[in-house]
Amino acid sequence: MKVLVFDNYEAASEQAAQMVEAQILENGQSVLGLATGSTPIGLYKNLIEGVTARGVSYKEVCTINLDEYIGLANDHSESYHRFMAENLFDHIDISIDNTYVPNGVAPSAEEECIRYEEIIDRLGPIDIQILGIGSNGHIAFNEPGTDPETLTHVVELVASTREDNARFFPSIDEVPTHAITTGIKSILKSKKIILLATGKGKADAVKKLLSKEISKDFPASFLWNHKDVTLIVDQDAYALVQTEGQ
Ligand code: F6R
Repeated sequence: MKVLVFDNYEAASEQAAQMVEAQILENGQSVLGLATGSTPIGLYKNLIEGVTARGVSYKEVCTINLDEYIGLANDHSESYHRFMAENLFDHIDISIDNTYVPNGVAPSAEEECIRYEEIIDRLGPIDIQILGIGSNGHIAFNEPGTDPETLTHVVELVASTREDNARFFPSIDEVPTHAITTGIKSILKSKKIILLATGKGKADAVKKLLSKEISKDFPASFLWNHKDVTLIVDQDAYALVQTEGQ
């Protein structure tokens, strides 16, 4: 795992954007794996700017998102479909038909998981997979305890994840209890992985990840089993690693 440390969120976001744009400039038909949440918003802002500022085109790019809440329709204000439209897709020249997010209101969530994993295999391998990390070490919605062999599956969100995400909903009761998520194994199929971790709230998780102990209790630790992972952090997220390393 390569670790890149930046002064702040903006610089970390710019670095991630440069890596994504380099991939697209090399191959206009790249497949990107995308995450939602607060962390990648700065990356997406940079990618949007890149369309006009640097002439980057997404006309032939495909994107595959990590996850979606079960029970939220695509147009629900907190669905990940809506998040992606508002934070990226509506502002770049991508064809919406080339963007994939699990269907959280599919008649059968289990069948949707099978369909989604088939999409990953048909379009993949993903050239660059963007990940954030939960304060409990989850990647996508692979919560502590997840088996590393998991493919796309239905997950019950743990209390800490629902609490972390309650900030986006009127009350915690409205945070969905389940989600469809790509699995650890699905994620590790990607050619290259960029894990973004920024802000003090991620300092414990980054410290744990960099202890290199691989365990089901900390799903992000399975990234040590992949040969091309870049961890991009800001000083706040790296703070505990530095303090103890000196
Ligand atoms: C989002 C996702 C999650 C988030 C993680 C961090 O698609 O899969 O794993 O990346 O919960 O979220 P933020 O960035 O909001 O701290």
